[in-house]
Amino acid sequence: MNNVRKITDDLYWVGANDRRLALFENIHPLYHGVSYNAYVLLDEKTVLFDTADWSVGRQFLENIAAVLDGRPLDCLVINHVEPDHAASIEEILLRWPEVNIITTPKAVILLHQFGFELGERVEEVHEGDTRCFGKHTVTFVNAPMVHWPEAMVTFDVTDGVLFSADAFGSFRALDGKLFADEFDFDRDWLDDARRYYTNIVGKYGPQVQTLLKKAGGLDIKYICPLHGPVWRKDIGYILDKYIHWSTYEPEERGVMIVYASMYGNTEAAAELLAAKLCQRGITNTRLYDVSSTHVSYLISDLFKYSHLVLASVTYNLGIFPPMHNFLADMKALNLQNRTCAIMENGSWAPRSGSLMRACLEDLKHMEILDEGMTLASSLQEQNMPDLDAMADAIAASVTK
Ligand code: FEO
Repeated sequence: MNNVRKITDDLYWVGANDRRLALFENIHPLYHGVSYNAYVLLDEKTVLFDTADWSVGRQFLENIAAVLDGRPLDCLVINHVEPDHAASIEEILLRWPEVNIITTPKAVILLHQFGFELGERVEEVHEGDTRCFGKHTVTFVNAPMVHWPEAMVTFDVTDGVLFSADAFGSFRALDGKLFADEFDFDRDWLDDARRYYTNIVGKYGPQVQTLLKKAGGLDIKYICPLHGPVWRKDIGYILDKYIHWSTYEPEERGVMIVYASMYGNTEAAAELLAAKLCQRGITNTRLYDVSSTHVSYLISDLFKYSHLVLASVTYNLGIFPPMHNFLADMKALNLQNRTCAIMENGSWAPRSGSLMRACLEDLKHMEILDEGMTLASSLQEQNMPDLDAMADAIAASVTK
């Protein structure tokens, strides 16, 4: 049975949800599933915008057939070729062999690399090219590295619809709803949207800013991404989030404390630091055990908060491996522009502090507070002045 949603008089969502996938890209945990979005435009010509992951292929194909209702499929616009969107292209060609594929030259190269057979009917388009399907005219806008090099977005000039590829996407299945205004987005979706953006696209902030500048010249009434809800109201809300994330500006002044603890001693010190911050009026805090929190969640909150405290044991004369992995991911995702403080622990040769400092100094625009501390196995009375000084310095920095 088909399961489609109408977006405008002529445009339909024909995507589907996957709640079985445990790891997106085989790395990021999904606890609430993910949607693969695709859209059909019914005009003098019929147009499909992108396809879907093969895991939802049956529902996706049934949806297209239902919307077409016996009409042929004339065009397939491919904005992005990552296989979670491109996997069904060959099946589309089998079912509708007359379809014309419209995409970028780089997309054609990548599709061939993945072994997709595209047939003869491929039109390569470039930035600023337009196509008229009848009542609707679309224009194509390159979006390189958002989040692969071939990506483009397509803007329907007639109805103000932006087919935004991965931009403005989100983890989480759609629960029968489609539009962001049908959810309490800020309460229920923002964390998933941030975790999607920061881990999937976060490295490419400058490229996202370029796309946002181009989008600023368009009269956008709808944003139709490849994952997550469609935007038709309060588009400024999600644009504002993207401005923060792509410029690596924190959304909130607050403190994220991430600790690496083997026997609970570094954890206890981190807990007490959090309590001392709270006593100083800093209540916008989060405390995470790096060993039990998937790094994608840590990265997501790191894009949210202005301040970061790293507390780690020394392990094999180095940084505790999960903390090292977190620091490597920060570097990979181009994280910058945060204020940090460091707590180290080591029973005979504490080194994690200097090593974490070196990793943070390798990132751009990171301020590291002088007030840090070294523990010898566990927090003792003689450490309290350092802990208080650290709490004072962090609190002063958050509120300045
Ligand atoms: Fe959802 Fe870059 O693919």
